[in-house]
Amino acid sequence: MTTRGSWGTRLGFILAAVGSAVGLGNLWRFPWMAADNGGSAFLVVYLAVIVLVGVPGLLAELVIGRRSNRSPVGALVSLADSDRWRAPGLLAVGTAVLLLSFYAVVGGWTLRYFLTSATGAYFAEPGAYFSGASSGLDAFAFALAFLALTGFVVYRGVDAGIERASKVMMPAILVLLVALAAWALTLPGAGAGVSFYLAFDLATLRANAFDILPAAAGQALFTLSLGCGTMLTYASYLSEDRSLPADATAIAVLNTLVGVLAGLVVFPLLFALGDGAGAGGPGAVFVSIAAAFATLPYGQVLGVVFFGVVLLAALSSSISMLEIPVAYLVEEREHSRHTAVAGLLSLFAVTSGVCAFFPAIFAFVSGTLVDLLLTTGLVGFLLFVGWVLGKDAVDEFRTGAGDFAGRLATPWLYAVAVVLPVFLLFTLVTGVLGALGVTVADVALGGVTVSGTTQLVGVAVLLALTAYATLRRPGSAV
Ligand code: PFF
Repeated sequence: MTTRGSWGTRLGFILAAVGSAVGLGNLWRFPWMAADNGGSAFLVVYLAVIVLVGVPGLLAELVIGRRSNRSPVGALVSLADSDRWRAPGLLAVGTAVLLLSFYAVVGGWTLRYFLTSATGAYFAEPGAYFSGASSGLDAFAFALAFLALTGFVVYRGVDAGIERASKVMMPAILVLLVALAAWALTLPGAGAGVSFYLAFDLATLRANAFDILPAAAGQALFTLSLGCGTMLTYASYLSEDRSLPADATAIAVLNTLVGVLAGLVVFPLLFALGDGAGAGGPGAVFVSIAAAFATLPYGQVLGVVFFGVVLLAALSSSISMLEIPVAYLVEEREHSRHTAVAGLLSLFAVTSGVCAFFPAIFAFVSGTLVDLLLTTGLVGFLLFVGWVLGKDAVDEFRTGAGDFAGRLATPWLYAVAVVLPVFLLFTLVTGVLGALGVTVADVALGGVTVSGTTQLVGVAVLLALTAYATLRRPGSAV
């Protein structure tokens, strides 16, 4: 039996978790999603979901991880003492595999832009350069190189690999981002970007709230690395009892700060020198920002620094994605860490190849599918904490938490058991219908009009009840 890894220090855990959270989600996916969904209106919904769902959801994953000291499948099965929870655990592992499959492709673009910024290779024709680089054989080759870097860190283990790398990468990202934001904000025309990003626009928000919701909720989970067991697995390497509510808050606050900071770099650049955010799509950052550097003095240096930051952020997230299937193979299938990493890299060579060669599959996986899977996964973890762990979850929450935070444990449990799953299922149903292009009409029932939204809330409640009935611990009191 292999001994499990563990973090060397508390700071190491926090930095690794923040490293997982801060990534392409902040620097690449956020501007794309925000541009597609109304700019600052999207930001408002996204921030609300982070505070109201993200932090309690993060706590749910941390509680399961520390309580079980196992990765998702083993954690759910052992704590529930029932095999019924194997499927939700495997869903989390599968989601992580899917995530890394497309993430490696974007990581590969980043690696390529980092290297070629030095020569200014994309300066002459940024759009054409991106078309050539974003899919096909070149994209595949760089995705493989990115996967190799990721594999190297994970291969070295939890403290010697992930923790050590995070302790170097995270401070570097922070310092460089502050410097880049200070510079970007002084560019003529930067103000338009800042107001697209930060101006609170109630009218757009009200008119589009339901359309924005699924994408904003998905992005909030994506940015906090929730719903596929990453935070759960990282918390399973915690040995001492420290305050999980304090850790969850620190992780969410730091991620949001870096996210906002990243927005203050990306949006001014898009507006001052690029085509604005409207150019949209997965290429927004790579085409417009690369074009911006081409017009600037010292553009090559700026390019290296900017894409260097994006690369570090991408790596600290991709290692957390790879760690989930690795932990599963090591713990549940008794492979060595080295065999697990090597085997998985071969698998990813195929799956990331599919994403590199088929842009339509890439766009669907990295957008809608990921939103839906992370939402489903988090619902599973929340129902587990609420209905299977119950009082044990409250105990785990309180361990090391101090009086003030300890008092929040019971309200948190109710939120996690009932309110948040229904909310997330509502966004899930809305998201699926939106993806299928279906709208739900009002219906009149005996003289009372039931709005489409009310019907969807009803469906969400029914789904929550069905999930509970299927998954609850046999013989449990609730
Ligand atoms: N939070 C990462 C980002 O914003 O780029 C993405 C991510 C990492 C999602 C790890 C999920 C995950 F398990």
